[in-house]
Parts: sequence; C-alpha cells; structure tokens
Amino acid sequence: MEIKKVCVLGAGLMGSGIAQVCAQAGYEVTMRDIEQRFVDGGMNTIKKNLGRDAEKGKITKEQMDTVLSRIKPTLDMKEAATGADVVVEVVIEVMEVKKKVYAELEEIVPPHCLFFTNTSGLSITEMASVTKRPEKVIGTHFFNPVPVMKLLEIICGHQTSAETLEVAKEWGKKIGKEVIVVKEAPAFVVNRILCSMINEAFFVLDEGLASAEDIDKGMMLGCNHPIGPLALSDLVGNDTMLRVMEGLHRELGDKYRPAPLLRKLVRAGNFGRKTGKGVYDYSKK
Ligand code: CAA
Repeated sequence: MEIKKVCVLGAGLMGSGIAQVCAQAGYEVTMRDIEQRFVDGGMNTIKKNLGRDAEKGKITKEQMDTVLSRIKPTLDMKEAATGADVVVEVVIEVMEVKKKVYAELEEIVPPHCLFFTNTSGLSITEMASVTKRPEKVIGTHFFNPVPVMKLLEIICGHQTSAETLEVAKEWGKKIGKEVIVVKEAPAFVVNRILCSMINEAFFVLDEGLASAEDIDKGMMLGCNHPIGPLALSDLVGNDTMLRVMEGLHRELGDKYRPAPLLRKLVRAGNFGRKTGKGVYDYSKK
C-alpha cells in the first residue's frame, strides 16, 4: 500500500513532532487540533525546529520551506482526514475521548485508511473495537522529542493484520526511525520500565532522600542517562506521566502506584516545561 497523505490528529509536543518528521519524509500532512492556539503552537514548534536545523546548515532554507509547505494546519476534522491513507491519532490519553475520535473518523476516511495511535500505553484492541476496521488499527508509539529520538515502538492489537504491521514498519523506516515490535500490554515495553523509574524518583524526592537536582545528577552521572528522571518527567509532561502510571496501577496492581508528589504537581497544574513549571521552574529561563 502506498502512503501519500498522513493526517495527524493533535498539534502538541508529540503531534507536531510527528507531523514534522512525516513532512520531512515527503508525505503530504494535515495537522489538526481543536483550538487555533494549539495548531499555531504546533506550527511554531516545527518552524523553530527546522529553523535550528537550517542555522546549523543541516538543511537549506529552501528545504525548510518545502517541508513547511507540505503541512496543512487545520481545526476541521473533515478537511484533515478526507483522503488520508494514514491517520496518526495523538489526542489526549483518555480512552473515551479516543473512542469518540475513531467513531468520527470512520465516517470520513476512505476504506483503505490505516489508524495509527500514538498512545503512551492504552489498549490498541479497545480503541480498534469502536472502528469497522480493527485489522487496520495499530500502535505507533513515538518518543519525545520526536525529531531527535530514534525509536518507534510498534504495538499490535488483538486483531491487527500482518499487512498493517508491515506498512507501519515501512512507514517508520521511511520517517527515519528504528522500529521495535512489542505485544500489547499496559504501557507496552519502554514506558513500563521508564515511567516506573521516573515514578520512583518522585517517591525518593518526596521522602527527602536527596534534592531534585541531586537525584537527576545521580542518574545522569551514575547511569549515563542523558537527562535526569525528574527533568525528563517535566519534558514529557507530568500529566502524561501520571496518566501512564494510573493505567499501569489500574491494570497491574499496587507495584505501580503513582507517587503522591507526582499527583500533587499535576493537581497544581505544574505539568512541566509546557506550563513553565513542574519539578523545576522554567518561567525565568
Ligand atoms: N525538538 C527537536 N530537536 C531538539 C529538541 C526538541 N525539543 N531538543 C533538543 N533537540 C536537538 C538539538 O537541536 C540538538 O541537535 P544537534 O545534535 O543537531 O545539535 C540535539 O537535540 C541535542 O540537544 P541539546 O544539545 O540542546 O541538549 P541535550 O544534549 O541535553 O539533548 C535531549 C536534549 C535530546 C532532549 C536529551 O536530553 C535526551 O535525549 N533526553 C532523553 C529524552 C527521552 O528520554 N525521551 C523519551 C521520553 S519518554 C516518551 O516520550 C514516551 C512517552 O510516552 C512518555
């Protein structure tokens, strides 16, 4: 199957990154979100990323303009999804919201269109159950920042076909990613391990064992991680992190209980870099 048009639903951190790498790979891309400020924010992020690459001489100004011209930002679901060969769904990590989006999409996209979900850990099988094409639904889990991180974790749902998996793997390679294929389970493979570690860092901080700076420094210098777990939670979004942990806790039990401090930060609206404050304060930088 040939992919020409990719529709990305969501223009936040992940959605804009996915739209960018798809446009860089030559696809015609639509990027849809529910408010103009989100769409504008996504386009600004892409322009900033490409501008940085142009400044470094990694791409020319013409290449930058060509990539940007391939991305059509919109608020209109119909405009975004009509004629799409692939929809990459990057909407909020709430199953009921995702199900509504899939039901709406079913009425718009052509029969051959594949549904790729960038969920951080929700069930692909459950999302697929509200579509008329469960064999065409698959998890394509990206990592933040999308243009930098090499991995694409691909997850097959219960009814995902071998053909859909092959197309997703080829697409992943074409957009410059290394692919791993994992079985469906809460939070899949990478987030089950990564988010548990980050959650533990919040417990350690809350117990007063060390400062946030020293916890991060410890993991960077002691384990060669490129960024400490608390700074990484701020980068990914503490709200996203909490949702992943809540899913793990719900499905796999007490071993995965979200750290109370993580929950407190989210309740305070301290989601991390995107709100200017998380574990660390970014408002003055
Ligand atoms: N978007 C695009 N490019 C970016 C970027 C962004 N947000 N942030 C940094 N970069 C680029 C920089 O331009 C730079 O590029 P060059 O090599 O061409 O110069 C490169 O990345 C390195 O950046 P910096 O030198 O500014 O900073 P750094 O060395 O500290 O790297 C980092 C920043 C790449 C984010 C690094 O800290 C890192 O790898 N962190 C770990 C990220 C990680 O673990 N991500 C997974 C999160 S989990 C997830 O996403 C899954 C989920 O579902 C929750």
